[in-house]
Amino acid sequence: MPDRPSRVVLVGFMGSGKSAVGRVLARRLGYRFEDMDRRIEERTGRTIAEIFRDEGEEAFRKLEREEALALSRLTECVVASGGGAFARPETRALLQNGAITVWLRCDIGRLLSRIPPDGSRPLARNRAIMQALLAEREPSYRMADVAVDASAGSPREVAERIVGLIEGRTRKRTSARR
Ligand code: S3P
Repeated sequence: MPDRPSRVVLVGFMGSGKSAVGRVLARRLGYRFEDMDRRIEERTGRTIAEIFRDEGEEAFRKLEREEALALSRLTECVVASGGGAFARPETRALLQNGAITVWLRCDIGRLLSRIPPDGSRPLARNRAIMQALLAEREPSYRMADVAVDASAGSPREVAERIVGLIEGRTRKRTSARR
């Protein structure tokens, strides 16, 4: 693929498959895979649920912003962002920097069925607010460079759709330069 993006950032709501698809996509492109939430957990030695419980959401958002800055310096990698990261303007700008951003669009029924009720995602404890939270965030997700349907298909199939979209964009840019 000529002129490949040096970083691919997956954005979208909890349960849209960012981590599962990201892992497959990274393998397919020969890139490394980075998961924002896991990196925060490794750096702080605490789980996301513990950070929310002990310090609150704003402290978590600050860690997320720091992680986005660290990730903006990496090349040849696929990043699975946290579901709220792209809705924060500063974090979004860092994630967009030098990357192609991909929204994994998914319907609410599918999202809810994929979020385990195990407390690992503090904002998903109250299922009743999920639809409103998705509606609030959709305008931000729409700011991604491309959107892919992630409601149906295996992670491998969704990853292939993304490769197709990336290749299409690359081809368009290459022919525009001729
Ligand atoms: C969040 C989504 C989670 C995690 C945290 C907050 C959100 O990431 O960052 O629980 O605000 O939607 P996933 O989208 O990977 O579940």
